Amino acid sequence: MKVLVITWLLQALSVSALRTTVRDDSKQTKIVPSTVFSGNVNANAVSKHGYLDGPQLSAVNSSSYEWWYFDAVSGDHLSSITIVFYTALASGFGFITPTTDVTVVGVDFVFPNGTTNSIMLSASEAVITTEGQGSSAVFKNSGARWEGSPDLSWYTVKINAPGSGVAGTFRLNSVAPAHYSCGKADAGQLVMVAPNIGWSNAIPDSAGDVDFTVNGEKFNFQGSAYHDHNWGAQPFQDNIVLEHWGRGRLGDYSIVWSIVNVPDGTEYATIYVAADQRILIASCKTTSFSLTSLYANGDATTGTFTGYDLHVDLDQGNSLDIQVTVEHVAFNGAPVYERWIGSMSGRLNGGELISNGVALFEEFNLSGL
Ligand SMILES: *[C@@H]1O[C@H](CO)[C@@H](O)[C@H](O)[C@H]1NC(C)=O
Ligand SMILES: *[C@@H]1O[C@H](CO)[C@@H](O)[C@H](O)[C@H]1NC(C)=O
Ligand SMILES: *[C@@H]1O[C@H](CO)[C@@H](O)[C@H](O)[C@H]1NC(C)=O
Repeated sequence: MKVLVITWLLQALSVSALRTTVRDDSKQTKIVPSTVFSGNVNANAVSKHGYLDGPQLSAVNSSSYEWWYFDAVSGDHLSSITIVFYTALASGFGFITPTTDVTVVGVDFVFPNGTTNSIMLSASEAVITTEGQGSSAVFKNSGARWEGSPDLSWYTVKINAPGSGVAGTFRLNSVAPAHYSCGKADAGQLVMVAPNIGWSNAIPDSAGDVDFTVNGEKFNFQGSAYHDHNWGAQPFQDNIVLEHWGRGRLGDYSIVWSIVNVPDGTEYATIYVAADQRILIASCKTTSFSLTSLYANGDATTGTFTGYDLHVDLDQGNSLDIQVTVEHVAFNGAPVYERWIGSMSGRLNGGELISNGVALFEEFNLSGL
């Protein structure tokens, strides 16, 4: 029906802008084989009309990397899941288990008692379909797939991997508009969060519903969930020294931050805050916010990381002051990589305390390598 109406409109109007819309709304499918491509690849650096969550590399060579990341953290701050669909080798993203398979999926579980568990699944190829801003993918013979709506209002991730003892569904219903590193999810935006590191954030925050069975035990919870996507044509590990990324929900506020220090000493920053489906800031100006790491019993080298002080200047002159406090280690790859579950509390313009916020955040520190 939709196709018929659009065909009629095109005949009636013959407007080129309309043709563009039609082309962007149609489905595009890309097949990524599990074997690496030899040759140069292109990485998109500027956003298009639509296509926010579609593949951003022309192919996957041994220096490139691309992944689609999903996470959820429970309202009681005890459980979390992260699922990452990679099209990369360890030579492009040095933190995955080295294999010759480009198409792999990593899943990390944090159980309510603090136990963690990680699995890795290999696919024979990835079939990725892009429609509107959203994408869907089947990682063939791995049992893992995701499905996303063209308007980014929802995503579903499904895993059925009996060989690894894991089966389940993870649903995300968005509560916060998508964005790129420096602004809204419009065409023509710079999408590099730092040189050679592309980033799109399809679901900055959502109502998450996680329903899994892991080795015969139930793993289910509801909480705040998130989905983003990174890519680059040069190895990730050659392009960062230090990275702090995190996100969370505090009251009605959905917050995402990122700070990347690169080898030439430059610091790149991104901040995003939304509430009631409205973006209150989406900026890559380093002056829009400050993120201060806090340590107990010493400094970054000698002490224990306990969280952050985060100050954000919103549009319209308001500001948020937020304390992020580490509660649990969700993934311990210290000293190079760590991920934490935390709590958040804060105040708008120094007003009433908003508490009971939840956060998930990570640090890459390659300065010792
Ligand atoms: C992959 O593509 C990038 C970008 O064109 C290029 O710089 C790099 O040398 C390629 N890697 C290999 C191993 O061919
Ligand atoms: C923690 O929970 C997991 C999942 O339910 C269970 O398999 C494990 O035995 C528990 N560990 C301890 C130490 O209780
Ligand atoms: C990063 O690692 C280096 C060397 O291991 C350490 O000296 C430094 O304090 C760490 N920085 C942060 C912010 O954790």
